[in-house]
Amino acid sequence: MKQKIKYQDEANTCSENKNFAGKAQMPEVLHGSLTNKFSDHSSLRKFFRSIVLPVKKIKKICRDVFLSNEITTVLDFGAGTFFWTDWFVQELGCQIYAVDVYYKNLMIEKQNVKCYSDFDKCLNDCHDFSVVFACDVLHHLPVMECDEFIEKIITKAKIIIIKDIDANHVFGNFMNKMHDRIINKEKVYNVYPNKIKKIFELYGYKTYYYYIPKLWYSHFMIIGKKN
Ligand SMILES: C[S@@+](CC[C@H](N)C(=O)[O-])C[C@H]1O[C@@H](n2cnc3c(N)ncnc32)[C@H](O)[C@@H]1O
Repeated sequence: MKQKIKYQDEANTCSENKNFAGKAQMPEVLHGSLTNKFSDHSSLRKFFRSIVLPVKKIKKICRDVFLSNEITTVLDFGAGTFFWTDWFVQELGCQIYAVDVYYKNLMIEKQNVKCYSDFDKCLNDCHDFSVVFACDVLHHLPVMECDEFIEKIITKAKIIIIKDIDANHVFGNFMNKMHDRIINKEKVYNVYPNKIKKIFELYGYKTYYYYIPKLWYSHFMIIGKKN
């Protein structure tokens, strides 16, 4: 798959992104060259991911939802290293909109994928998504930002898929916080699926909750489907 990444103005990007959640995945600039999350080690990253994340179950749940619906556009919010974006391209072959604050000042060319660092700009370009997907992004957003995100997508999506860590499970949530704070040096917020479920239902979505723990992490998925 074609994927070109150019980096513009490294210093600028680093300082501008400092305040954003997810900063632990900022590129490192080493002697003028760039080692970032897009570069090598992707198979190693995938391997560790499959240990901590119930990837197969997430894919199975998504596939079941995709089966009974026509999917033409997917918004992958907080798409990061394109782990899920690439899978959507492979699985669905449709147009993907990948949004991540991290893409600021990066020029990324990827077949079937439009990349944005500015969410509002993305929403200007596309008003309707078959699927909005956010995996492990909401726990990086302060409560107000999280509410804002849901508010923005709720009228624009047929299906919404949220994968995150269930804060109702105190131990799993605590372990995830430790992981993100200590290993990734990231600030983490609580995500309560029951709150998301209520909002979805208020807007006429039928909801499905899946609790899919792995190791000590309290992973969950919530799916909202427009009736
Ligand atoms: C834990 S990573 C998950 C990446 C990807 N969804 C995955 O599962 O591989 C969280 C991502 O959310 C992004 N992010 C954090 N705050 C964001 C925001 N306000 N808008 C868009 N992306 C954001 C971070 O840059 C990071 O890439």
